Amino acid sequence: MDRLRIIGGQTLSGSVRISGAKNAALPLMAASLLTDQTLILRNVPKVADIETMAQLLAELGLDVSDHWENRSGPNMEGSSSVCLALSGSGLESVTASYELVRKMRASVLVLGPLLARLGYACVSMPGGCAIGPRPVDLHVAGLRQLGATILLKDGYIEASAPKGLRGAVIQLPVASVGATENLMMAASLADGDTIISNAACEPEVGDLAECLVKMGASISGVGTQRLEISGVSTLRGTDYTVVPDRIESGTYAIVAGITGGTLDLLGARIEHMQSVADSLTKVGVELTKITDGVRAARVSREICPVTIETEPYPGFPTDMQAQLMALTTLARGVSTVRERIFENRFMHVNELARLGADISIKGNTATVVGVSALNGAPVMATDLRASVSLLVAGLAAQGETVINRVYHLDRGYESIVEKLVACGAIVERLPE
Ligand code: EPZ
Repeated sequence: MDRLRIIGGQTLSGSVRISGAKNAALPLMAASLLTDQTLILRNVPKVADIETMAQLLAELGLDVSDHWENRSGPNMEGSSSVCLALSGSGLESVTASYELVRKMRASVLVLGPLLARLGYACVSMPGGCAIGPRPVDLHVAGLRQLGATILLKDGYIEASAPKGLRGAVIQLPVASVGATENLMMAASLADGDTIISNAACEPEVGDLAECLVKMGASISGVGTQRLEISGVSTLRGTDYTVVPDRIESGTYAIVAGITGGTLDLLGARIEHMQSVADSLTKVGVELTKITDGVRAARVSREICPVTIETEPYPGFPTDMQAQLMALTTLARGVSTVRERIFENRFMHVNELARLGADISIKGNTATVVGVSALNGAPVMATDLRASVSLLVAGLAAQGETVINRVYHLDRGYESIVEKLVACGAIVERLPE
C-alpha cells in the first residue's frame, strides 16, 4: 500500500485548481440509471470512489465511457477533468453485489434509481465503516412509503415495486444526505406527488436536483429542507457539470492556515463554504472571493483557538471536522470540537497525538490544547478525512511524517500530491 512522505515547515502559496465534488458526482452517476438515454457528466474528479461507481454501473450493464482531459499549464498541476458518458440503455442486472458495495457505501445510491426504473433492485447492505455503523434504515423506510416491498435478507436489500412507485409524504427524522438523494431519484419516476420534509440541503443534494430537473424531473424547493417532487413517466439524458468540491476547498484553506501561507482556490464557491469561512475567520484565516474562486490567507500571527460543532448544512460540515482539528493543534489556546453527525469520527485523534498534539475526548467532544510545535512521525490513515487531517498536520510538523494506507486519501482527493507540491510543499508518494 502506498505511503506519503512529508517534510513539514514550508509556507505554501500559489493556486490550486479545485476539482468537482466527489459527493455530488456519485449520486449524479447513479442518476444515469433513471433513463435509457445518455447522461454526460463533466468536471468529475479522478478519484477512486468514482472508479468504483463506474465499475458498479458497468456491472449493471450501463455503457460507461470516460474522457480524461489532462489540463496542463500554470495552476493546473495534476488536475484533470473527467467527462463521463453514461448510457442507461443497456441496463440488464438489478443486483449491486457485496464485493462492490462494501468498497464504497455510496453504492447504495443505485437502490432508488434501479427500483424506479425497473421495479426491482437487490443491493447489498453497505455495512458500517470506520466512522460509524452508517445504517440505511431511512432509505428503506422512505422507499416503503413510496410503495416498495422491501425484504432485508442475507445481507441484501431486496426491493420490488412491480406496479411502479407512488408519491408519498415523507418526513425524515434525520436530515440524511444519502436518504434524501435516493428518495428524490425514486420519487422522480413515481406516480403522483412526493414531499420530503427535513430533507438534507447540502450543495451536492442541490446539484443532483438541478441535474434531475434538466433530465425532465419536476422538483421544487431545491436547496431547502422541503422538497416537492411530481413524478414523471420518463427522464431524458442531459449534459451536466459537477459542482466544485467545497470540502476539498475547505481542506486547502486549512492548508494555507496551518502553513501560514496564501492559496487561491480556483473554481471554489465561497457561498458553499460560509460556515467554514466563519470558523476560519475566528482562527485567523480569511477567505475572500476572487475573480475565479476563493483566496485563503493566514492573517493572524498566531493560530487562534475556536469552538465548533458539526451540523447538517449550512452548519459546519462533519467532513471538515478532522481538518479543522489538525489546525487547532497549533492554536494558542484551547479549542473544542464536537462531532454531532457520526458516532466515531475521532479516529484521527490518536494519530495526531503521535505528532505531538494534545487532545482529550469525552463522549462526542474533543478538547484540543494547542502546542507550540508538532513533530513528524509515522502515522496511519483510517478513513478519508482522517487521512487528510494527518497530511495537513504533517505539512506543519517539524521533520518527516510518513502516512501509511493512503488509499483512503485517494478515494476523495484528486492529485493531492501534485497540487500541494505546486504550492511549495515537500511531499512525495512512496510506492509499496
Ligand atoms: C454523506 O454520507 C457523505 N457521503 C458523507 O461524506 C458525509 O459525511 C455525510 O453525507 C454527512 O454530510 C456522500 O455523499 C457519498 P447521512 P451519508 O445519511 O449520506 C444517519 C466523506 O468523507 N443515518 O447524511 O451516508 C447516519 O448514521 C463522506 O466524503 C441514519 O441513521 O450521510 C449519520 O449519523 C463521509 N439512517 C447521519 O444520519 C440512514 O438511513 C447523517 O448521515 C441514513 C443516515
